[in-house]
Amino acid sequence: MKTVKVDLGKRAYDIIIGAGVVGKLPRIVSEISKNAPAVVITDRNVISGSGKILGSVLKKIKNPVVKIVLEPGERSKSFNVFAATVKKIASATRGHKPVIVAIGGGVVGDLAGFVASSYRRGVPLVQVPTTLLAQVDSSIGGKVGIDLTEAKNIVGAFYQPRKVLSDMDFLSSLPPRQINNGMAEVVKYAVIKSPEMFLSLERNIGKIRSLDGKFMENIVTECAAIKAGIVEKDELDDMDIRIVLNYGHTLGHAVETASGYSDLYNHGESVSIGMLMAGEIALRMGIFAKRDLMRLEKLLSDLDLPVRIKKVKAAKILDACKYDKKFTSGKTRFVLPCSIGKVKVVENVSPGMIRSVVSCFIKKS
Ligand code: GLY
Repeated sequence: MKTVKVDLGKRAYDIIIGAGVVGKLPRIVSEISKNAPAVVITDRNVISGSGKILGSVLKKIKNPVVKIVLEPGERSKSFNVFAATVKKIASATRGHKPVIVAIGGGVVGDLAGFVASSYRRGVPLVQVPTTLLAQVDSSIGGKVGIDLTEAKNIVGAFYQPRKVLSDMDFLSSLPPRQINNGMAEVVKYAVIKSPEMFLSLERNIGKIRSLDGKFMENIVTECAAIKAGIVEKDELDDMDIRIVLNYGHTLGHAVETASGYSDLYNHGESVSIGMLMAGEIALRMGIFAKRDLMRLEKLLSDLDLPVRIKKVKAAKILDACKYDKKFTSGKTRFVLPCSIGKVKVVENVSPGMIRSVVSCFIKKS
Protein backbone atom coordinates (compact mmCIF):
# COMPACT_ATOMS: atom_id res chain seq x y z
CA MET A 1 0.00 0.00 0.00
CA LYS A 2 1.24 3.49 -0.88
CA THR A 3 0.10 6.97 0.12
CA VAL A 4 0.49 10.15 -1.92
CA LYS A 5 -0.32 13.44 -0.23
CA VAL A 6 -1.89 16.28 -2.18
CA ASP A 7 -0.63 19.21 -0.15
CA LEU A 8 -3.18 21.98 -0.56
CA GLY A 9 -3.08 23.47 2.94
CA LYS A 10 -6.56 23.32 4.46
CA ARG A 11 -7.76 21.21 1.53
CA ALA A 12 -4.88 18.67 1.75
CA TYR A 13 -5.77 15.01 1.34
CA ASP A 14 -4.24 11.56 0.90
CA ILE A 15 -4.51 9.24 -2.07
CA ILE A 16 -4.24 5.68 -0.78
CA ILE A 17 -3.20 3.15 -3.41
CA GLY A 18 -3.09 -0.65 -3.17
CA ALA A 19 -4.98 -3.93 -3.27
CA GLY A 20 -7.91 -3.97 -0.85
CA VAL A 21 -7.73 -0.31 0.20
CA VAL A 22 -11.48 0.14 -0.42
CA GLY A 23 -11.80 -1.77 2.88
CA LYS A 24 -10.79 1.48 4.59
CA LEU A 25 -13.97 3.22 3.40
CA PRO A 26 -16.18 2.51 6.47
CA ARG A 27 -13.56 4.01 8.81
CA ILE A 28 -12.92 7.00 6.58
CA VAL A 29 -16.65 7.81 6.39
CA SER A 30 -17.07 7.56 10.17
CA GLU A 31 -13.95 9.71 10.73
CA ILE A 32 -15.46 12.43 8.54
CA SER A 33 -18.73 12.22 10.44
CA LYS A 34 -20.00 9.70 12.99
CA ASN A 35 -23.61 9.72 11.85
CA ALA A 36 -23.96 11.63 8.57
CA PRO A 37 -25.69 9.61 5.86
CA ALA A 38 -23.18 8.15 3.38
CA VAL A 39 -24.54 8.71 -0.12
CA VAL A 40 -22.81 6.19 -2.36
CA ILE A 41 -23.00 7.14 -6.03
CA THR A 42 -21.95 4.44 -8.45
CA ASP A 43 -23.05 2.90 -11.77
CA ARG A 44 -24.38 -0.38 -13.11
CA ASN A 45 -20.99 -1.41 -14.56
CA VAL A 46 -19.34 -1.17 -11.15
CA ILE A 47 -22.15 -3.19 -9.61
CA SER A 48 -21.87 -5.93 -12.22
CA GLY A 49 -18.02 -6.03 -12.26
CA SER A 50 -17.23 -5.45 -8.59
CA GLY A 51 -20.55 -5.88 -6.80
CA LYS A 52 -19.10 -8.49 -4.44
CA ILE A 53 -16.23 -6.30 -3.17
CA LEU A 54 -18.58 -3.37 -2.89
CA GLY A 55 -21.37 -5.24 -1.13
CA SER A 56 -19.09 -6.42 1.66
CA VAL A 57 -17.55 -2.94 2.16
CA LEU A 58 -20.87 -1.07 2.16
CA LYS A 59 -22.26 -3.53 4.73
CA LYS A 60 -19.51 -2.44 7.15
CA ILE A 61 -20.39 1.26 6.97
CA LYS A 62 -22.05 2.11 10.29
CA ASN A 63 -23.52 5.40 9.03
CA PRO A 64 -26.88 5.15 7.25
CA VAL A 65 -26.18 4.37 3.57
CA VAL A 66 -28.11 5.73 0.58
CA LYS A 67 -27.15 4.09 -2.70
CA ILE A 68 -27.64 5.83 -6.06
CA VAL A 69 -26.88 3.74 -9.13
CA LEU A 70 -26.38 5.63 -12.40
CA GLU A 71 -26.52 4.39 -15.96
CA PRO A 72 -22.93 3.89 -17.19
CA GLY A 73 -21.63 6.33 -19.79
CA GLU A 74 -21.04 10.01 -20.48
CA ARG A 75 -24.79 10.67 -20.74
CA SER A 76 -25.02 10.45 -16.96
CA LYS A 77 -22.86 13.58 -16.71
CA SER A 78 -25.91 15.64 -17.61
CA PHE A 79 -27.95 18.39 -16.03
CA ASN A 80 -30.97 16.04 -15.80
CA VAL A 81 -29.05 13.30 -13.97
CA PHE A 82 -27.49 15.95 -11.70
CA ALA A 83 -30.96 17.31 -10.86
CA ALA A 84 -32.41 13.83 -10.26
CA THR A 85 -29.44 12.92 -8.04
CA VAL A 86 -29.63 15.97 -5.76
CA LYS A 87 -33.41 15.53 -5.45
CA LYS A 88 -32.91 11.88 -4.41
CA ILE A 89 -30.31 12.97 -1.85
CA ALA A 90 -32.57 15.71 -0.47
CA SER A 91 -35.49 13.33 0.03
CA ALA A 92 -33.40 10.42 1.36
CA THR A 93 -31.29 12.39 3.83
CA ARG A 94 -34.07 14.61 5.18
CA GLY A 95 -32.12 17.68 6.21
CA HIS A 96 -28.91 15.90 7.25
CA LYS A 97 -25.58 16.86 5.70
CA PRO A 98 -24.35 13.77 3.84
CA VAL A 99 -20.89 12.49 2.95
CA ILE A 100 -20.78 11.74 -0.79
CA VAL A 101 -18.85 8.63 -1.83
CA ALA A 102 -18.14 8.34 -5.58
CA ILE A 103 -17.39 4.75 -6.57
CA GLY A 104 -16.74 4.44 -10.29
CA GLY A 105 -14.90 5.82 -13.28
CA GLY A 106 -14.56 9.40 -14.46
CA VAL A 107 -18.25 9.95 -15.17
CA VAL A 108 -19.32 8.89 -11.67
CA GLY A 109 -16.46 10.85 -10.06
CA ASP A 110 -17.19 14.04 -12.01
CA LEU A 111 -20.97 13.92 -11.47
CA ALA A 112 -20.77 12.91 -7.79
CA GLY A 113 -18.01 15.46 -7.20
CA PHE A 114 -20.15 18.21 -8.69
CA VAL A 115 -23.06 17.09 -6.52
CA ALA A 116 -20.77 17.26 -3.46
CA SER A 117 -19.49 20.70 -4.45
CA SER A 118 -22.96 22.21 -4.78
CA TYR A 119 -25.33 20.30 -2.48
CA ARG A 120 -25.81 22.45 0.65
CA ARG A 121 -22.97 24.61 -0.75
CA GLY A 122 -20.53 21.77 -0.35
CA VAL A 123 -20.43 18.49 1.57
CA PRO A 124 -17.49 16.09 2.12
CA LEU A 125 -16.49 13.90 -0.82
CA VAL A 126 -14.57 10.61 -0.93
CA GLN A 127 -13.41 9.39 -4.34
CA VAL A 128 -13.10 5.65 -4.95
CA PRO A 129 -11.95 5.43 -8.60
CA THR A 130 -12.55 2.01 -10.13
CA THR A 131 -10.96 2.49 -13.57
CA LEU A 132 -7.28 3.01 -14.31
CA LEU A 133 -8.14 6.26 -16.09
CA ALA A 134 -9.94 7.62 -13.03
CA GLN A 135 -7.20 6.39 -10.66
CA VAL A 136 -4.43 8.21 -12.51
CA ASP A 137 -6.35 11.30 -13.54
CA SER A 138 -9.93 12.35 -12.86
CA SER A 139 -10.16 11.40 -9.16
CA ILE A 140 -7.17 13.65 -8.36
CA GLY A 141 -7.07 17.42 -8.40
CA GLY A 142 -10.67 18.44 -7.82
CA LYS A 143 -12.00 19.09 -11.33
CA VAL A 144 -15.68 18.07 -11.16
CA GLY A 145 -18.58 18.87 -13.44
CA ILE A 146 -21.18 17.94 -15.97
CA ASP A 147 -21.65 18.33 -19.73
CA LEU A 148 -24.19 20.37 -21.64
CA THR A 149 -25.16 19.48 -25.20
CA GLU A 150 -23.18 22.60 -26.16
CA ALA A 151 -19.88 21.37 -24.65
CA LYS A 152 -18.27 18.80 -22.36
CA ASN A 153 -17.36 19.73 -18.75
CA ILE A 154 -18.73 23.24 -19.28
CA VAL A 155 -20.48 23.44 -15.89
CA GLY A 156 -18.34 22.52 -12.92
CA ALA A 157 -16.12 23.46 -10.03
CA PHE A 158 -12.78 22.85 -8.38
CA TYR A 159 -13.71 20.74 -5.36
CA GLN A 160 -11.13 18.58 -3.63
CA PRO A 161 -12.07 15.23 -2.08
CA ARG A 162 -11.27 14.40 1.56
CA LYS A 163 -9.66 11.13 0.51
CA VAL A 164 -9.01 9.06 -2.64
CA LEU A 165 -8.97 5.26 -2.37
CA SER A 166 -7.41 3.69 -5.48
CA ASP A 167 -7.93 -0.03 -5.11
CA MET A 168 -5.96 -2.21 -7.54
CA ASP A 169 -8.52 -5.01 -7.12
CA PHE A 170 -11.02 -3.09 -9.25
CA LEU A 171 -8.70 -3.21 -12.25
CA SER A 172 -9.03 -6.96 -12.77
CA SER A 173 -12.71 -6.61 -13.69
CA LEU A 174 -11.96 -4.16 -16.52
CA PRO A 175 -11.81 -5.21 -20.18
CA PRO A 176 -8.35 -4.75 -21.81
CA ARG A 177 -9.58 -1.76 -23.86
CA GLN A 178 -10.50 0.02 -20.63
CA ILE A 179 -7.02 -0.64 -19.20
CA ASN A 180 -5.45 0.74 -22.39
CA ASN A 181 -7.70 3.78 -22.04
CA GLY A 182 -5.95 4.53 -18.74
CA MET A 183 -2.50 3.54 -20.02
CA ALA A 184 -2.62 6.41 -22.54
CA GLU A 185 -2.80 8.84 -19.60
CA VAL A 186 0.03 6.93 -17.88
CA VAL A 187 2.20 7.43 -20.99
CA LYS A 188 1.23 11.12 -20.93
CA TYR A 189 2.63 11.49 -17.39
CA ALA A 190 5.84 9.72 -18.44
CA VAL A 191 6.31 12.08 -21.40
CA ILE A 192 5.65 15.22 -19.37
CA LYS A 193 7.67 14.33 -16.28
CA SER A 194 9.28 10.91 -15.99
CA PRO A 195 11.80 9.40 -18.43
CA GLU A 196 12.34 6.63 -15.85
CA MET A 197 8.68 5.62 -15.90
CA PHE A 198 8.72 5.74 -19.71
CA LEU A 199 11.62 3.27 -19.77
CA SER A 200 9.91 1.08 -17.21
CA LEU A 201 6.73 0.98 -19.33
CA GLU A 202 8.77 0.05 -22.44
CA ARG A 203 10.40 -2.80 -20.53
CA ASN A 204 7.30 -4.15 -18.80
CA ILE A 205 4.55 -4.48 -21.38
CA GLY A 206 3.97 -8.06 -20.16
CA LYS A 207 3.39 -6.91 -16.57
CA ILE A 208 0.92 -4.30 -17.80
CA ARG A 209 -0.97 -6.88 -19.87
CA SER A 210 -1.15 -9.29 -16.93
CA LEU A 211 -2.03 -6.43 -14.53
CA ASP A 212 0.83 -7.36 -12.21
CA GLY A 213 -0.39 -6.02 -8.85
CA LYS A 214 2.88 -4.51 -7.59
CA PHE A 215 3.78 -3.03 -10.96
CA MET A 216 0.35 -1.42 -11.41
CA GLU A 217 0.44 -0.10 -7.84
CA ASN A 218 3.79 1.57 -8.56
CA ILE A 219 2.54 3.04 -11.83
CA VAL A 220 -0.64 4.47 -10.28
CA THR A 221 1.43 5.85 -7.37
CA GLU A 222 3.93 7.53 -9.68
CA CYS A 223 1.16 9.10 -11.80
CA ALA A 224 -0.70 10.27 -8.68
CA ALA A 225 2.51 11.82 -7.33
CA ILE A 226 3.17 13.64 -10.62
CA LYS A 227 -0.39 14.97 -10.76
CA ALA A 228 -0.36 15.92 -7.07
CA GLY A 229 2.87 17.91 -7.58
CA ILE A 230 1.35 19.81 -10.50
CA VAL A 231 -2.01 20.46 -8.79
CA GLU A 232 -0.22 21.74 -5.65
CA LYS A 233 1.43 24.44 -7.77
CA ASP A 234 -1.63 25.39 -9.82
CA GLU A 235 -4.81 24.14 -8.16
CA LEU A 236 -7.13 26.40 -10.16
CA ASP A 237 -5.42 25.88 -13.52
CA ASP A 238 -4.74 29.57 -13.98
CA MET A 239 -0.95 29.72 -13.73
CA ASP A 240 0.16 27.96 -16.90
CA ILE A 241 1.44 24.97 -14.89
CA ARG A 242 -1.50 22.54 -14.76
CA ILE A 243 -1.89 23.05 -18.51
CA VAL A 244 0.92 20.50 -19.11
CA LEU A 245 -1.62 17.82 -18.14
CA ASN A 246 -3.32 18.67 -21.44
CA TYR A 247 -0.45 17.22 -23.45
CA GLY A 248 -2.05 15.22 -26.28
CA HIS A 249 -5.51 16.50 -25.36
CA THR A 250 -5.92 19.43 -27.77
CA LEU A 251 -5.90 17.39 -30.98
CA GLY A 252 -7.01 14.32 -29.02
CA HIS A 253 -10.25 16.06 -27.99
CA ALA A 254 -10.73 17.14 -31.60
CA VAL A 255 -10.48 13.48 -32.71
CA GLU A 256 -12.92 12.48 -29.95
CA THR A 257 -15.38 15.23 -30.94
CA ALA A 258 -15.03 14.54 -34.67
CA SER A 259 -15.81 10.87 -34.09
CA GLY A 260 -19.00 11.97 -32.31
CA TYR A 261 -17.94 10.43 -28.97
CA SER A 262 -18.83 7.11 -30.58
CA ASP A 263 -17.26 3.78 -29.79
CA LEU A 264 -14.63 4.48 -32.46
CA TYR A 265 -12.20 6.22 -30.09
CA ASN A 266 -12.43 6.39 -26.33
CA HIS A 267 -10.66 9.16 -24.39
CA GLY A 268 -7.31 7.40 -24.04
CA GLU A 269 -7.28 6.27 -27.66
CA SER A 270 -7.88 9.86 -28.81
CA VAL A 271 -5.15 11.11 -26.47
CA SER A 272 -2.77 8.47 -27.88
CA ILE A 273 -3.19 9.94 -31.38
CA GLY A 274 -3.16 13.49 -29.96
CA MET A 275 0.19 12.90 -28.20
CA LEU A 276 1.72 11.64 -31.43
CA MET A 277 0.35 14.56 -33.45
CA ALA A 278 1.76 17.00 -30.87
CA GLY A 279 5.04 15.06 -31.10
CA GLU A 280 5.03 15.44 -34.90
CA ILE A 281 4.41 19.21 -34.59
CA ALA A 282 7.32 19.40 -32.11
CA LEU A 283 9.51 17.40 -34.50
CA ARG A 284 8.69 19.74 -37.40
CA MET A 285 9.45 22.73 -35.18
CA GLY A 286 12.84 21.24 -34.41
CA ILE A 287 12.29 20.84 -30.66
CA PHE A 288 11.72 17.06 -30.44
CA ALA A 289 13.97 14.30 -31.80
CA LYS A 290 12.75 11.76 -34.37
CA ARG A 291 14.19 8.98 -32.20
CA ASP A 292 11.98 10.03 -29.25
CA LEU A 293 8.88 10.30 -31.44
CA MET A 294 9.55 6.77 -32.70
CA ARG A 295 9.94 5.49 -29.13
CA LEU A 296 6.62 7.08 -28.24
CA GLU A 297 4.86 5.57 -31.25
CA LYS A 298 6.28 2.12 -30.49
CA LEU A 299 5.25 2.25 -26.83
CA LEU A 300 1.69 3.35 -27.68
CA SER A 301 1.34 0.67 -30.30
CA ASP A 302 2.80 -1.97 -27.94
CA LEU A 303 0.01 -0.93 -25.56
CA ASP A 304 -2.54 -1.57 -28.33
CA LEU A 305 -3.37 2.11 -28.59
CA PRO A 306 -4.09 3.66 -31.99
CA VAL A 307 -1.28 5.64 -33.63
CA ARG A 308 -3.12 6.77 -36.78
CA ILE A 309 -6.68 8.03 -37.45
CA LYS A 310 -9.16 5.76 -39.18
CA LYS A 311 -12.70 6.53 -40.33
CA VAL A 312 -12.68 10.22 -39.34
CA LYS A 313 -12.17 13.00 -41.89
CA ALA A 314 -9.39 15.59 -41.42
CA ALA A 315 -11.90 18.42 -42.10
CA LYS A 316 -14.07 17.27 -39.18
CA ILE A 317 -11.08 17.17 -36.82
CA LEU A 318 -9.95 20.65 -37.89
CA ASP A 319 -13.49 21.92 -37.47
CA ALA A 320 -13.61 20.46 -33.93
CA CYS A 321 -10.36 22.33 -33.11
CA LYS A 322 -12.18 25.64 -33.62
CA TYR A 323 -14.27 24.96 -30.52
CA ASP A 324 -11.27 24.34 -28.30
CA LYS A 325 -10.84 27.23 -25.87
CA LYS A 326 -7.13 27.41 -26.64
CA PHE A 327 -8.02 28.18 -30.25
CA THR A 328 -11.05 30.41 -29.84
CA SER A 329 -9.08 32.84 -27.69
CA GLY A 330 -7.17 33.64 -30.88
CA LYS A 331 -4.02 31.68 -30.05
CA THR A 332 -3.19 28.14 -30.99
CA ARG A 333 -1.48 26.95 -27.81
CA PHE A 334 -0.01 23.49 -27.65
CA VAL A 335 1.78 21.50 -24.99
CA LEU A 336 4.63 20.02 -27.01
CA PRO A 337 7.28 17.49 -25.99
CA CYS A 338 10.94 18.56 -26.02
CA SER A 339 12.22 15.16 -24.88
CA ILE A 340 10.83 12.13 -23.07
CA GLY A 341 10.17 13.65 -19.64
CA LYS A 342 9.91 17.32 -20.64
CA VAL A 343 7.22 19.39 -22.35
CA LYS A 344 6.69 23.08 -22.99
CA VAL A 345 3.81 25.36 -23.95
CA VAL A 346 4.17 26.74 -27.46
CA GLU A 347 1.94 29.54 -28.73
CA ASN A 348 0.85 30.35 -32.25
CA VAL A 349 1.44 27.02 -33.97
CA SER A 350 0.43 27.88 -37.53
CA PRO A 351 -2.94 26.62 -38.80
CA GLY A 352 -1.09 25.33 -41.88
CA MET A 353 1.13 23.15 -39.68
CA ILE A 354 -1.90 21.79 -37.78
CA ARG A 355 -3.72 21.01 -41.07
CA SER A 356 -0.69 19.28 -42.51
CA VAL A 357 -0.04 17.16 -39.40
CA VAL A 358 -3.70 16.10 -39.04
CA SER A 359 -3.84 15.08 -42.74
CA CYS A 360 -0.61 13.15 -42.35
CA PHE A 361 -2.12 11.07 -39.50
CA ILE A 362 -5.23 10.04 -41.47
CA LYS A 363 -4.73 6.40 -42.42
CA LYS A 364 -5.34 5.84 -46.11
CA SER A 365 -7.48 2.72 -46.46
N1 GLY B 1 -7.23 16.29 -16.35
C1 GLY B 1 -6.53 17.52 -16.36
C2 GLY B 1 -6.54 18.23 -15.04
O1 GLY B 1 -6.96 17.67 -14.04
O2 GLY B 1 -6.12 19.35 -14.97
